[in-house]
Amino acid sequence: MRQLELRPHPGAGVEILGVDLAQPSDEELKFIQNAYAEHGLVFFRDQSLTEQSQIELAGKFGPINVNRFFAAHPDYPEIALVVKEPDQLTAIGEGWHTDHSYDQDPAMGSILVAKELPSSGGDTWFVSMYDAFNRLSEGLKQTLRGLKAVHSARHIFGTGQGYTQTADVAGQRIGNPAAADELIDPVHPVVIRHPLSGKEVLYVNPAFTRHFEGWTREESLPLLEYLYQQAVEEDHVCRFRWEPGSVAFWDNRATWHAAQNDYQGMRREMHRITIDGCPLEAAGSL
Ligand code: SIN
Repeated sequence: MRQLELRPHPGAGVEILGVDLAQPSDEELKFIQNAYAEHGLVFFRDQSLTEQSQIELAGKFGPINVNRFFAAHPDYPEIALVVKEPDQLTAIGEGWHTDHSYDQDPAMGSILVAKELPSSGGDTWFVSMYDAFNRLSEGLKQTLRGLKAVHSARHIFGTGQGYTQTADVAGQRIGNPAAADELIDPVHPVVIRHPLSGKEVLYVNPAFTRHFEGWTREESLPLLEYLYQQAVEEDHVCRFRWEPGSVAFWDNRATWHAAQNDYQGMRREMHRITIDGCPLEAAGSL
């Protein structure tokens, strides 16, 4: 095995140096899996992943979850395109979110590969939801451990809602609203026992969490907004600056992310593959 190195990334996650993701050995994959389970967010630089090698890499971590709403790569349907053209105003994923919490078995993780970058800007922000949970008081943690929350995609991807109201997104970059209309909103524990690390994680997010189970949205919002504000405290956010060859691999159960939309007039193209997850268990269940 080549000598791999772990370097903490400011704010959250780690950078893994010394691996070629197009042909990782079994030992190197184990190293990446361990870092991923521990930190929930791993970055790589100077990679040369083709579409096919990104698909092969993702398949080593689990079955690929083909996104129902994002435009797919014309030749590789496993790859969701995250593109912003120079004349488009909206970036996909500008708000803080985690992918697929609206599914009954939320996706494990997503691998994002930079294909075309603006000459400046277009960074991605991340936060660790392990860290966000750990910073809360014991009293609030205990209250949250007893709660569940309802998540939904309808207000984002559904007919006449969210992205479908945005002219430069609807039907071009995001589509299939009927699939969102039909989703049955899942209920997930607010504090989960992370399936890989066994640690407690706060599992709500501003995009898809609608309300606490048994509470109205109005009743839920003050507490949800408090949690969101805590999660993105300035000293705890990670700003990932993309370079040609950069790859980010995040765990959707342990992080949030948000795309910075600050490169108007320039093109950005990213290729995202999302990997299947599993049902989420409450923290108290171990
Ligand atoms: C995403 O939300 O999956 C994409 C993030 C980005 O484009 O930086």
